[in-house]
Amino acid sequence: MMNNMTLNAIPVLTIDGPSGVGKGTAALRVAQHLGWHILDSGALYRVLGQAAIKHGVAFDAADALEALAQGLEIEFLPDSHTGDTRIVLEGTDVTQAARSEEGGKAASLVAAIPQVRAALLERQQAFCQAPGLVADGRDMGTVVFPHAVLKIFLTASPEERANRRYKQLKEKGIDVNLPGLVKQLVERDTRDSQRLVAPLVAADDAIQIDTSHLDIESMVQKILTALHTALQHKGVVSSNQGSQ
Ligand code: DC
Repeated sequence: MMNNMTLNAIPVLTIDGPSGVGKGTAALRVAQHLGWHILDSGALYRVLGQAAIKHGVAFDAADALEALAQGLEIEFLPDSHTGDTRIVLEGTDVTQAARSEEGGKAASLVAAIPQVRAALLERQQAFCQAPGLVADGRDMGTVVFPHAVLKIFLTASPEERANRRYKQLKEKGIDVNLPGLVKQLVERDTRDSQRLVAPLVAADDAIQIDTSHLDIESMVQKILTALHTALQHKGVVSSNQGSQ
């Protein structure tokens, strides 16, 4: 188990927010810029959803899902063709199914179960490795890394978020309709925000950024600037070190 000394010594930046707000892209870009590790916590819940389907476990079977979560055999492998990460479950590539809208719904359903969240907690904290970690999800700043040096909470209207998702899917040649996407996105956010354990909510000490009118480059710059200030406050970097 990761002890508190280790968790406190390594800087963590958390990026939370609802679906489709740009967390994943922003987290990846910031992590690449800093040379830090990255945790895509949503991918863990997405894989668990796929494991449940594969093993015929219902999305509300708490004990069976907890057991699956404890023994989950996952690999995240770099995909040299797309630059994305391939998600491998028990030796099988499940990236496409896990990343689909249905995969998101399955993830959100299994993620609402407290035992599942407890079973995945240490696995997430183990990503905290030197020189630092960028963690993206729903409860990174509130539950998993409450000591984070900086907590960001991204927001944008459901329409804007669905629009972005629509464009992404179209670019990948996947046919979807926009009103259907808005509906799915709102349903998922409602479930993620209203669950009893670790709901989607900004930490009290999070900096909120509305990304509705920001491109990814501006988002990344804002986060890096805020991080630099936070690290200075903690004495991790000196005031004359540039943020770029
Ligand atoms: O970030 P994402 O869209 O890949 O996440 C998929 C689902 O997983 C999301 O709808 C809720 C759940 N999730 C969660 O409960 N807690 C997290 N830290 C990350 C994701």
